[in-house]
Amino acid sequence: MINKPENNMRQSWIKNDSLMDEKLKPVSDALFESIGTPKGRRFLDIGCGAGSTTVRLGKLISPTASVTGIDISDSIITFAKQKAKGISNVDFVLGDAQTYEFKPNTFDGAMSRMGVMFFGDPIQAFSNIHGGLNEGAFLTFTCWAPPKEGELTDLLRRTALKHTGKTDNDLGPATGGEAFIDKEYVKSILNDSGFSNLSIKTLMIHSRAKISPKEDAKLNMEIGCAQRIMIDAEADDEIRERIYEDLLAISKEHQEGDYVGYDRSIHIVSAIA
Ligand SMILES: C[S@@+](CC[C@H](N)C(=O)[O-])C[C@H]1O[C@@H](n2cnc3c(N)ncnc32)[C@H](O)[C@@H]1O
Repeated sequence: MINKPENNMRQSWIKNDSLMDEKLKPVSDALFESIGTPKGRRFLDIGCGAGSTTVRLGKLISPTASVTGIDISDSIITFAKQKAKGISNVDFVLGDAQTYEFKPNTFDGAMSRMGVMFFGDPIQAFSNIHGGLNEGAFLTFTCWAPPKEGELTDLLRRTALKHTGKTDNDLGPATGGEAFIDKEYVKSILNDSGFSNLSIKTLMIHSRAKISPKEDAKLNMEIGCAQRIMIDAEADDEIRERIYEDLLAISKEHQEGDYVGYDRSIHIVSAIA
């Protein structure tokens, strides 16, 4: 029997931290390739989660420069602090990046790996972040791009829709992790928040982890768009069980030896404050 998919994505993320990090490594690599070795003294990691990218940036910059990770989740920030114990140029704050009172003109750059798509009011959020950045500071983040047929998000969405009896039309505008798939929408938000020199590159990554198909299917029930569709549709145990069985078949189809892997399209967004 599958656990009820309540809104426990963050707990699931903590529980599966190293697996999620393995899956998102190609995303991190693309993000850091875009950032290069940044010049400056202070940097910000928005929606830093368990702090994997915060620590990676801390190791990349000079030990006298520093990175602050901000996240809205108390449990995730506590976990990130434990993991980064002993790394002197990294710190974490608990806060909503949309409204957090950043000291004006503090950071020389801000980045995020999949942590900026969840704001209730994105223009307020990016304007607020802009206020914490020095003039000319960089903003670089990754977000999910429209999934092509056969990519993980497409498979999760189609499976969840099929069994909940919903259609794409029932989903309304993209939300959650998929809220920034439309490039023009992202550009308009950043323009309206005071950023310039916008660039959005879209690329395909291959996200994989050393995981059994059963574990993979369970994870896909807990994190991602299938979970959101099941919650919205108030899917009962029977429907969830059927979705799980299909996701298990999909995980088996994507088995690569000891790994399970999927193609996924991402945007790399950069701008200047
Ligand atoms: C998909 S996770 C990505 C976490 C991390 N960047 C990573 O790649 O492992 C999104 C994160 O954004 C955080 N988040 C959502 N809304 C936020 C907000 N308004 N302010 C700060 N963090 C937020 C969530 O708590 C979550 O940790």
